Amino acid sequence: MTQQALVQGLFEQQFQSAAELVCHAPGRVNIIGDHTDYNDGFVLPAAINYGTTIAASKREDNVVKVYAHDCDAQTNEFILNEISFDEEMMWSNYVKGTLQALMTKYPDIKGADLVVTGNVPQGAGLSSSASFEVAILKTFTELYQLDLDGVTAALMGQRAENDFVGCNCGIMDQLISAMGQKDHAMLLDCKDLSFEDAPIPDNLTLFIVNSNVKRGLVDSAYNLRRQQCEAVAEYFGVSALREVTLEQLNAAQDKIEPELFKRARHVVSENARVVATLKALKTNDMASMSIAMKASHNSLRDDFEVTTKEMDGLVEMIDGVLGTNGGVRMTGGGFGGCIVALVPTIMVEQIEEVVNSKYEKTFGLKPNIYLCTATQGAFR
Ligand code: GLA
Repeated sequence: MTQQALVQGLFEQQFQSAAELVCHAPGRVNIIGDHTDYNDGFVLPAAINYGTTIAASKREDNVVKVYAHDCDAQTNEFILNEISFDEEMMWSNYVKGTLQALMTKYPDIKGADLVVTGNVPQGAGLSSSASFEVAILKTFTELYQLDLDGVTAALMGQRAENDFVGCNCGIMDQLISAMGQKDHAMLLDCKDLSFEDAPIPDNLTLFIVNSNVKRGLVDSAYNLRRQQCEAVAEYFGVSALREVTLEQLNAAQDKIEPELFKRARHVVSENARVVATLKALKTNDMASMSIAMKASHNSLRDDFEVTTKEMDGLVEMIDGVLGTNGGVRMTGGGFGGCIVALVPTIMVEQIEEVVNSKYEKTFGLKPNIYLCTATQGAFR
């Protein structure tokens, strides 16, 4: 059954009427450029064919009633102008934070009945939460005919995470979920939010593997990384690490705490790798892509220290078969979750075979493989 049919059926069961509309927002995979977005840097993500789908109808009062099919089929109900953080139903805070941000621009919206389902694995680095936020924003935009554009919507989703949920994430996930283009990756400049669509050659598959390492204390480790980057930017007297060159950084090495130096070196060098990967994608230059993605993974492992041995193992296994025919690295925030490979479609079976035969044997965890295509963002 499609997600659309699922939410429509569930809506009728929950609310005894047909939903007025159904909206969808995709998750994303980041091809390269991790932990660069909140440093005003470059990223190269793609929206994927997994996402969050919502069936909805307007209400005449200020009540929002949400049935979350995948969160133990819980229902949460709240009043729009009395929003407060919910310690018990954590998932509901994404709806509340997002609507609070939406109401800063549209204070007069009314409530809604909602049924939500999603197929982005949660906590796996594929932006299940950003796709949830953007799906909520798209739903209210359609229900109330708002003139909300995709970039503003993305900023509202980010604000929900930063100010309400408590994760100081950057803008990448929400922006690609809102503005991704079918069959394309997006080069996003997080300094001014300008972006360019970059076609993904049609002989390549986005091959994603979830290591299924459960991530603990992710938000605090993530927020700490961000603080460390900001501390180095402050040392240089600039607004973000985007403004620092590798030469400047290297020249200041003895004056910066070693751990902070490594964090900054990752960010500054990763920006250059994003640009190199974009060029490689445009010219279908697999060897250069392979080099850039490998260097990105190593930098996230050694300098930024956000990989796990399972993610490193997956990357090594895939790289052993893929060689210079494609690229492979961890993707997203790290500390567990997924790796991404850009794989010539003719090699997909071979790579599946190596993951299935080696990963569980080595690490005692079952891998999940997702063969993805790049899809359209919710506001595109
Ligand atoms: C998470 C955040 C993003 C980004 C990545 C790392 O997905 O939500 O803003 O910082 O981690 O690249």
